[in-house]
Amino acid sequence: MFPSGLVVILVLTFSLTESKVDLLATPETIAVGLSSKFTLTCNVPVNHTMHVSSIHIYHSAGPEQNMSQLARIDVTGRIVTYLPNVASVSGHVLVNEDSNLTVEWVFPTSAQAGYYVCNVTLSGAHALPYHETQNHTVGKTKPDFVNVIQELRKMRSYVESKFGNQTEKWTQTYETFKSTHFIKLNVTGSSNSDYLLSKELNSTAMQSDVMCHLLGGYLAEVSPREEQDITQALRTYGNGPADLILIGGSDVDDTGNWLYMRNELPLKLNVSLPAAPGQDCLAFNTKASFRVVQISCSNPSSSGTSMFLCQIDT
Ligand SMILES: *[C@@H]1O[C@H](CO)[C@@H](O)[C@H](O)[C@H]1NC(C)=O
Ligand SMILES: *[C@@H]1O[C@H](CO)[C@@H](O)[C@H](O)[C@H]1NC(C)=O
Ligand SMILES: *[C@@H]1O[C@H](CO)[C@@H](O)[C@H](O)[C@H]1NC(C)=O
Ligand SMILES: *[C@@H]1O[C@H](CO)[C@@H](O)[C@H](O)[C@H]1NC(C)=O
Ligand SMILES: *[C@@H]1O[C@H](CO)[C@@H](O)[C@H](O)[C@H]1NC(C)=O
Ligand SMILES: *[C@@H]1O[C@H](CO)[C@@H](O)[C@H](O)[C@H]1NC(C)=O
Ligand SMILES: *[C@@H]1O[C@H](CO)[C@@H](O)[C@H](O)[C@H]1NC(C)=O
Ligand SMILES: *[C@@H]1O[C@H](CO)[C@@H](O)[C@H](O)[C@H]1NC(C)=O
Ligand SMILES: *[C@@H]1O[C@H](CO)[C@@H](O)[C@H](O)[C@H]1NC(C)=O
Repeated sequence: MFPSGLVVILVLTFSLTESKVDLLATPETIAVGLSSKFTLTCNVPVNHTMHVSSIHIYHSAGPEQNMSQLARIDVTGRIVTYLPNVASVSGHVLVNEDSNLTVEWVFPTSAQAGYYVCNVTLSGAHALPYHETQNHTVGKTKPDFVNVIQELRKMRSYVESKFGNQTEKWTQTYETFKSTHFIKLNVTGSSNSDYLLSKELNSTAMQSDVMCHLLGGYLAEVSPREEQDITQALRTYGNGPADLILIGGSDVDDTGNWLYMRNELPLKLNVSLPAAPGQDCLAFNTKASFRVVQISCSNPSSSGTSMFLCQIDT
């Protein structure tokens, strides 16, 4: 469905020899917004004295946290997935070959980072069933601006060289990227722009700006005329977990002189913004009637869980 070469991120695999079970993650670190695919495979090498009864894969945010089941396969090859519409699951349980269970995500988000466990139940003709287990921790990184531009260039030239003119494929990939990382708001009375709320939490202003640019947009430049409609749409959505919703506008270069980062034009919002060094970016405060407040650009989450809002001209 997607151009297969789009994973331009360093591909690393991981395995341990102490256990007979291999748990492999590709890539090992998810580059949020850049990795187009994330694959987790639990592989059980063939063993002629034991056979595989089941393979289970679990996930949690960290080793000490509650695990949730992602998928399992039993001796008949029947697969149960707890991730319908989110990830695809495949696998084999075989007697004379390796057995495995694979979970694959398209455009993984931060939610896919964390701690994975594969539990395998084995049994032999005269032996009691026993268990093998293997774990693996998957990290995440958020892109910086230079990195993103380079990766985008690489992706585009790769796709062009391999597939020629792929306008349709790009459109499809772009739509998938948009729907996995963003929520489209229903802003009434906005015919010229789409507003997309990120699902990523606690991104810096720079990371947010980059993600908006990846969509062909920019951090929302809210004017008093649109403010009501946008905050209404955010209220209707329910804000998810966010205390703050980062929007465009900064006085980072000159305290008290508020500009849009995109074109250095003056802020349109009519709000009172006292000079506050280190609080150089703007956000709606969802816990205070969506008032516009000043927050840190490099660490928005020092004031609470944050999301960001992109605007795309249509
Ligand atoms: C098969 O599994 C048994 C039980 O763990 C183990 O003793 C044996 O070494 C394994 N054989 C191979 C070829 O890995
Ligand atoms: C794990 O789940 C149990 C029961 O749902 C809950 O009581 C406990 O607080 C959870 N522990 C963690 C670390 O989330
Ligand atoms: C899973 O096992 C089957 C059969 O041994 C093999 O054909 C397939 O390539 C394996 N898949 C992965 C992802 O290792
Ligand atoms: C995996 O198997 C081990 C050993 O049987 C067990 O202690 C552990 O609780 C299992 N993990 C999960 C997440 O079920
Ligand atoms: C993860 O696996 C490693 C290697 O098998 C083991 O040393 C470690 O204790 C495991 N971690 C947990 C939390 O079970
Ligand atoms: C690619 O296709 C689009 C839409 O069909 C067209 O507008 C564009 O000119 C094509 N580009 C090349 C390099 O052929
Ligand atoms: C936007 O409206 C559509 C149709 O009424 C609804 O399905 C969707 O959930 C709404 N989206 C948000 C983010 O509120
Ligand atoms: C800006 O807000 C102040 C205080 O709420 C108000 O007095 C003033 O008229 C507003 N200016 C514009 C241009 O809307
Ligand atoms: C986001 O930041 C808030 C406030 O600092 C913190 O409580 C929360 O755990 C963070 N969430 C994530 C996913 O980083």
